[in-house]
Parts: sequence; structure tokens; C-alpha cells
Amino acid sequence: MSENLAYALTQVVHNFGAAAVLGGAVFVLWPAFRLENVRTFAWLILVAWGAQIASGGLFGLTSLYYYGEMPDLGSIALAALAVKVGAAITGFLLAAFYLVRGREWDHVRVKRAFRVLAALGATALTAAAFLRWFS
Ligand code: HEM
Repeated sequence: MSENLAYALTQVVHNFGAAAVLGGAVFVLWPAFRLENVRTFAWLILVAWGAQIASGGLFGLTSLYYYGEMPDLGSIALAALAVKVGAAITGFLLAAFYLVRGREWDHVRVKRAFRVLAALGATALTAAAFLRWFS
């Protein structure tokens, strides 16, 4: 019971984090978006990547706590997990880099950064589907 609840609550954070990393970046790229709001969205995206890393780690810790071991993932699922972790770390660092340096960037560079952030979100979401590859 508590195990199911722990998993479900972690999944809630993980699901909204996934929606925010991709949705936030797509919003910034939308033609009608007001560019003066970009930093607010960059913060949202930074926090969301951080939430993915924290809740992803919590999934592992929950398994460890309740079963005494990590899930037995096959090589495809492990590769998918590695892609997700790589995307999450890169996305977090890129959003942070934008927040530190982005004021000096022109529009083209800002758009490019958010295109990369959107691509990282899409890549992580695609990889997430392959976590269910048991073999
Ligand atoms: C450090 C980074 C991450 C780790 C360690 C991680 C870990 C995990 C784990 C262990 C699960 C499986 C939970 C289960 O069903 O037992 C999971 C599910 C999921 N993750 Fe992540 N994740 C990370 C980042 C991300 C990112 C960046 C996204 C998307 C932007 C994402 C999207 C998802 C989705 C959609 C699921 C549900 C998949 C399904 O139930 O079929 N994850 N994640």
C-alpha cells in the first residue's frame, strides 16, 4: 500500500515534470510568445528538469527500499534510461546556462537554445517508452 502510494506520488511529479520540460520549451518557440517572458519559462524548465532527476532517482530509491534491489532492466531499457539521464543533465545545464548568460544572447541564439531544450524533452519522452522493454 505505502509502496504503491510512494510510486504513484513520484510518478505524479515525474509526469508533470515531463510535461513542463517539453511544454515549456514549445511555448517559448510558439510564434505568439512574448520574448520578455522567456526567463520565467527558463526557470520553470530548469526546475522541471531538476524534478525529473530527483523523481527519477526516487523511483530507484523506492525500489531499493521496498525490494532491496534495483529493477532488473535489460540492455534496451538500460540504454533508454541512460538516454533519459543524459537528456535530463544536459537540459538542466542548458537551462541554467541560459539563465546565467542568456541576457547577452540575440533572438536567434535564444531560439536555438529552446529548440535544443524541446528536442531534449522529446528525446527523453521517447526514451521513457522503452523503459518497459523487459527481456
Ligand atoms: C535522471 C533522469 C531520470 C531518471 C533516473 C528516470 C527514471 C525513471 C524510472 C525508473 C521510471 C519507471 C518507473 C516505473 O514505472 O517503475 C521512469 C518513468 C518515466 N519517465 Fe523517467 N527518469 C528520468 C528522466 C525523465 C525525463 C527527463 C522524462 C521526460 C521528459 C521522463 C519521463 C518518464 C515517463 C513518461 C515515464 C513513464 C513511462 C511508463 O510508465 O511507461 N523521465 N523514469
